[in-house]
Amino acid sequence: MQYDADLNFNYFAPTKVIFGAGSIDELSMEVSALGKKAFLITDQGLIETGLVDQVRDKLGNLLAGVYADVPQDSGMDVVDRGAESALAAGADVLVSLGGGSVIDTAKGMCIVMKEGGSLRDFQGMQLLTREQTPHVVIPTTAGTGSEVTSGAVVLDKDQGQKIIIFEYFNTPRVAILDPRMTEKLPANLTAATGMDAMTHAVESYVAQARNPISDAAALHAIKLIVRYLPVAVENGRNLVARGQMQIAALLAGWAFSNAMVGLVHAMAHSLGAICRIPHGLANGILLPHVMRYNADEIPGLTADIAEAMGVAVNDMDASAVANAAADKMETFAGSVGLNQRLGDLGVSEEDLEKCADLSMSDGSIIYNPKMVMDAAEVLNVYLKAY
Ligand SMILES: [Fe+2]
Repeated sequence: MQYDADLNFNYFAPTKVIFGAGSIDELSMEVSALGKKAFLITDQGLIETGLVDQVRDKLGNLLAGVYADVPQDSGMDVVDRGAESALAAGADVLVSLGGGSVIDTAKGMCIVMKEGGSLRDFQGMQLLTREQTPHVVIPTTAGTGSEVTSGAVVLDKDQGQKIIIFEYFNTPRVAILDPRMTEKLPANLTAATGMDAMTHAVESYVAQARNPISDAAALHAIKLIVRYLPVAVENGRNLVARGQMQIAALLAGWAFSNAMVGLVHAMAHSLGAICRIPHGLANGILLPHVMRYNADEIPGLTADIAEAMGVAVNDMDASAVANAAADKMETFAGSVGLNQRLGDLGVSEEDLEKCADLSMSDGSIIYNPKMVMDAAEVLNVYLKAY
């Protein structure tokens, strides 16, 4: 992790974090400090788990309404409809309860509620000049990191592409990390979302915009995920593992919100947009292959990642370390059940050609440590995972 004398960066992490089993009890106090009426954004699955009722009870009279129509890959239309409902209900604070799709939908709603129009008008980075609608996040997965990041990823169905919106002024105000809110997450989703966090940590550690603070967060996140993800997958009721995974996801979120991600995310966004492959699953499958692709550009950083994963790198040369790091990642993903090939998921080679083309215009690709020259290189990486 060497830096030159011309190192310069901003580090932005304004979200208040409230952690602990039972910390959901603090929800109403946090909402009251931010506004008068809260609107809850969630999904149908969480209604069935009983978690929505719990949050409803905690909000009491502060609750102005609930919007539970968020699908797996949320879209611009979902955001616009949600914002309209929240405004009609007289809400001035949003509370999101869910995983990445729910949180990012709420982030989009925060903008439309404040600025008007459609989320379609706000694609891009740092377009806004004032604070947006206050947002309290209660994650029910440990992976996305979206509870503390300035970014949101929303599907634009017309363009057939996932759009990245990145706004400092739209970072959530409060993240309530209550491990009990994640204990009902099934093992396969625990694994996939956990590998999303792992991908944030690994990609931010090697990204073009990395800095010493994001490095520290990323490396600690990798260590926590290696130790606790298998435990959380094995026994979802282990609150220590659930809590440590929430912390790992948050650290990885802070890391990538400042250092950005890279090729894995560009490729996973495309697989999500074209083939509807869930984000964490796509990341978990692609990560070892992109590590191999990048390794010759960043041998020292790859060695740090290998060490954080517990690989003894002492007498290895750079290429052996690179292979050992990628092999270890592949074994680790397999150990939590993510050992599928893209072909097993119904993806065709023609799909991969389209995904490779689309990846070249994804906002994440420019931060990859190795410059990606053309879609043929991306296709080659996809085919290694096929
Ligand atoms: Fe991600």
